[in-house]
Amino acid sequence: MNPPAAAGLVVDDPDVAAELLRRGGLVAIPTETVYGLAADASRPDAVARIFEVKGRPRGHPLIVHLPSADRLADWAARVPRSARILAEACWPGPLTLLVERAAHVDDVVTGGRMTVGIRVPAHPLTARVLAQVPALAAPSANRFGKVSPTTADHVLADLGSILQPGRDAILDGGACPVGVESTIVDCTVEPPQILRPGGISTEDVSRLLRGRVAAASGPSRTSGMLASHYAPDRPVELVETAADLERRRADLVGAGRTVEVLDGVDDLVVYARELYAWLRAADRRAPDVILARLPPPDGLGHAIRDRLMKAAASPSDPSRAR
Ligand code: TXA
Ligand code: MG
Repeated sequence: MNPPAAAGLVVDDPDVAAELLRRGGLVAIPTETVYGLAADASRPDAVARIFEVKGRPRGHPLIVHLPSADRLADWAARVPRSARILAEACWPGPLTLLVERAAHVDDVVTGGRMTVGIRVPAHPLTARVLAQVPALAAPSANRFGKVSPTTADHVLADLGSILQPGRDAILDGGACPVGVESTIVDCTVEPPQILRPGGISTEDVSRLLRGRVAAASGPSRTSGMLASHYAPDRPVELVETAADLERRRADLVGAGRTVEVLDGVDDLVVYARELYAWLRAADRRAPDVILARLPPPDGLGHAIRDRLMKAAASPSDPSRAR
């Protein structure tokens, strides 16, 4: 196996990716949801670098990605029935389960918490990496608070100048088919709570748990629950209906503002899949306003609404204030 060419971070060979991870490097991995920035979860030194590269505050826990559901018990102090049911039904797939952590799980992974987030991603290339490095700690492969990446090019644009060729890599597995992050279910409480809506619908989680599931309560426990997250540089404004969209666009254009419109409500699978690519493309054109239409809050619409509301919540760039 040869390390990637010095000039190139992007590789397509999972064996190259696995070798870099074994040596303590970072590899951006494709998953069905978004690209993750992975380190070998058993190497605290490597995991610590994820926070530096992302600009992510320590204390924000990372999801541990495993090759199969039967490995869950190795990372959990105990596996509640709800977690077993959801893992069996949904893995590999866009679902993260919070469980009490096993004693060996390092503080750097969990942000010092007694719980750990676990998921089995569904992507053939990453499955081949996980066959060689059996636990990968990985957050989304974007700078903290910004829009998540759904292609290798997005990762390159965000982290290309920070990752080190020969030490780190971006494993190109094409565009992510789901496009929004995993649903996070806290199985350490009864009834389990949905902390972040995502690729598995709230309705499906509820059906699998026979209705024994609650919305998140208490203080914000995930960074995805912060009011502002997933944010482009340009301001995002939200509308509910097609008529509101047309009215608001006409007002803005009439006032001499430039506008980029996002409206995928007719097909939520496509809206979720393309959401982050559209936000990034809109941002690049630097309009005065990105005007986005919210889908109804059912099925995938729940996750899309959540991301759009957080993208709109507050300016991350002070030059946006106007
Ligand atoms: O689809 C996904 O979940 C993607 C792919 C790469 O797997 N990952 C992802 O990771 O979205 P990240 O770090 O960007 O978002 C995970 C969220 C964060 O808000 C984190 O705070 C929360 O999950 N989280 C992880 N472990 C946790 C724990 N033990 N307790 C509370 N929240 C946790
Ligand atoms: Mg993230």
